[in-house]
Order: sequence, then structure tokens, then C-alpha cells
Amino acid sequence: MLDFMNLSVLVIGGSSGVGLATAQILDRMGANVTIASRNLDKLHEAKRLLSDTAQHLELDITDTAQIQALQDSPCWDHVVISAADTPMGGIMALNVDDARHAMDSKFWGAYTAAKYIPVSAKGSIIFVAGYLSVRPGKASALQSAINAALEALGRALALELAPVRVNTVSPGLMDTKLWDSLPSQKRLEMFDMAANKLPIGRVGLPNDAAKAVCFLIDNDYTTGSTVYVDGGGRIA
Ligand SMILES: NC(=O)c1ccc[n+]([C@@H]2O[C@H](COP(=O)([O-])OP(=O)(O)OC[C@H]3O[C@@H](n4cnc5c(N)ncnc54)[C@H](OP(=O)(O)O)[C@@H]3O)[C@@H](O)[C@H]2O)c1
Repeated sequence: MLDFMNLSVLVIGGSSGVGLATAQILDRMGANVTIASRNLDKLHEAKRLLSDTAQHLELDITDTAQIQALQDSPCWDHVVISAADTPMGGIMALNVDDARHAMDSKFWGAYTAAKYIPVSAKGSIIFVAGYLSVRPGKASALQSAINAALEALGRALALELAPVRVNTVSPGLMDTKLWDSLPSQKRLEMFDMAANKLPIGRVGLPNDAAKAVCFLIDNDYTTGSTVYVDGGGRIA
């Protein structure tokens, strides 16, 4: 029986997608949730989906000083990091500065948060990576490398930061705001094509990955684990 009552959970990237879905489950089940991201309007909008006890924090995970400033805050029971701003494209299409920004955001952001944000000895850190780590596509070298690095970071930090547990959820293609920059017709075609290839027959929803985050928060015999929530994308 899952019990999140009164746990303090910081969800960085909690204004949207996997982060928001995680915050919603935890909030419904009695946790004290704080959602963090860069955009105050998005945070306010997201808070409308949470109870009155939920808090928000304007935070850019790429800003080391902002993360470092959290080191004197009370220990969180759990910290979930699903924030990422990762331009996509093949190596020949993407310029190097954009590629570096992606790594800064998703990998170095998570690294910095794990270094500075205090977590209770009985608590855990959960990274959100992506199945391209193990199942690259034809234009995914950067995403594959970032996700593989994040999964490896999670495994290694599980040793360095013990007894704090460190785990990773690695989703497949999910219908979230991440894809909002694509024209809607193109996005739907991409989702249809992906769904047809997957054993599960549909693309993921934020809740699919959020349930795995909640499993990892709850299960105190997991550490150094990566849970793939990809509809079978790794084997398709
Ligand atoms: N959707 C997919 O198909 C898919 C597949 C595999 C892996 N993933 C991974 O899953 C994770 C969550 O993605 P999602 O689909 O839930 O995306 P999303 O809906 O776009 O949510 C991203 C969240 O991160 C926040 N964020 C972005 N940059 C930030 C920064 N520098 N500092 C703080 N917050 C920041 C955004 O809020 P603000 O804009 O307000 O900062 C937002 O709350 C990401 O790591 C993504 O790469 C997604």
C-alpha cells in the first residue's frame, strides 16, 4: 500500500509533463509537494491542479547559484528531477552551442541538483532520462548520450550518496508539451507511427512515467535502478 502522507517532495520540472503528473499523484496522496521550474506563469497554472498545500519555486536548473542557494534548506524526503530543455536533431543539423545547452540542462542540471539539494538519509533522488539511452534512433546521438550519462550518473550516485537512494525513470515517447513546438499534424503523425511500432500500441502519457517515479519513491529496496517505461520501445 503506497503511503506518501506528509513526505516533502521537490519536483524540478514540476510545471508540466512527467513532473506535473508526479506532483499530482503525490499531492493527492498526502505528500507536501513543491513544484519548481523557470516560468512563474506555468507554475501558477500547474498549481491550479494541486491542493492548497502545494508550494512552488521559481528555479532554473542550469543556474548553479540558484541550486546552490538551496543547500541550506531543510532536507527533502525526495527530489524528482524531470526538468530538461533539450533541443533535438542529428549531429549535422544541430549546432554545438545548442547541443551543449541540452547537456547543461538535462545532465549538468541533474548533477548540480544532486550535489547541492539536501535529501534526508531515508529519502531518494529520482532522475528522468529516456529510453534513447539504449535504443538510439537515426538522429538521436545527443539525446542518447545525455540519457545514457544520466542513467550512469544515477547508478554511480547510488553508491556515493548512500544511504540516500538514487534511481532513474527512463520513459519512451510520451505525449507531453515537450512536442508542442511541432506542428500538430506532424506531431500526430509521429505519435501514430510510433504507436504502430510499439508492443503496447500507444505512445506514453505523463502518468505512465509518474507512476514509476512513485514506485521508486515508495520502494526503499530500490537504488541504482533504471526503470524503463517505454511501451516496449527498447525491444520494438
Ligand atoms: N516527452 C517525451 O517524449 C520524452 C521521452 C523521453 C524522455 N523524456 C524526458 O522526460 C523529462 C520530462 O519531459 P516532459 O515530456 O515531461 O517535458 P515537458 O512537459 O516539456 O516538461 C519539462 C519541464 O521542465 C521544466 N524545465 C525545462 N527547463 C528547465 C530548467 N532549465 N530549469 C527548471 N525547469 C526546467 C519545464 O518548465 P519551465 O519551462 O517552466 O522551466 C517543465 O516543467 C525530460 O527529461 C525529457 O527529456 C521525455
